[in-house]
Amino acid sequence: MRWPCEQDMNTIGSHNETHAETTTPASWEPKIIAFVCNWCTYTGADLAGTSRLKQPPQARLIRVPCTGRIDPLFIIKAFESGADGVLVSGCHPFDCHYNTGNFHARRRWTLFRALLDFVGIDSARLHFSWVSASEGKKWVDVITKVVRDVRARGPFQAYRTINRRFAFPPYITDHGEEREGAPEKTKESAHA
Ligand code: FES
Repeated sequence: MRWPCEQDMNTIGSHNETHAETTTPASWEPKIIAFVCNWCTYTGADLAGTSRLKQPPQARLIRVPCTGRIDPLFIIKAFESGADGVLVSGCHPFDCHYNTGNFHARRRWTLFRALLDFVGIDSARLHFSWVSASEGKKWVDVITKVVRDVRARGPFQAYRTINRRFAFPPYITDHGEEREGAPEKTKESAHA
């Protein structure tokens, strides 16, 4: 059984950006935030480490009790804070420590994913997987694939406008124009 979009990890097209979003500096490395369930994926990633399997170092793991605990706002916040890609990974179906947390999560993400494009986040930067505590090798494969995919997409620049568009009152109008009274743009955001 798969996450709704698990099979699409390398194939989903973006509605909001192209792969050549920017001219990527040679030294650029993608920042990946991985929300992982304590009972399965976190332990699987730990197993990969203790088994000395080689894995990309770009992922920052955030351990949560269950994928059902992940609020969609965590994902938005990760992108808003500059993540180039986000991975959500937990127990396989019927293995959830809390019985149905992963099913709730899967249903939630099916709906949420469609909303990402609406808020200006390329939904192809969000990945899902199931990795059990004994699947250290699978963890390495998953995170390697995610890093490769995000690297191909380049840096996620749109995060600089998320705050401005959804601040209250919004600083950017529906037509993409600066609203009167909006705070000064920083030098960085001016180039976003
Ligand atoms: Fe792992 Fe629920 S405890 S997904």
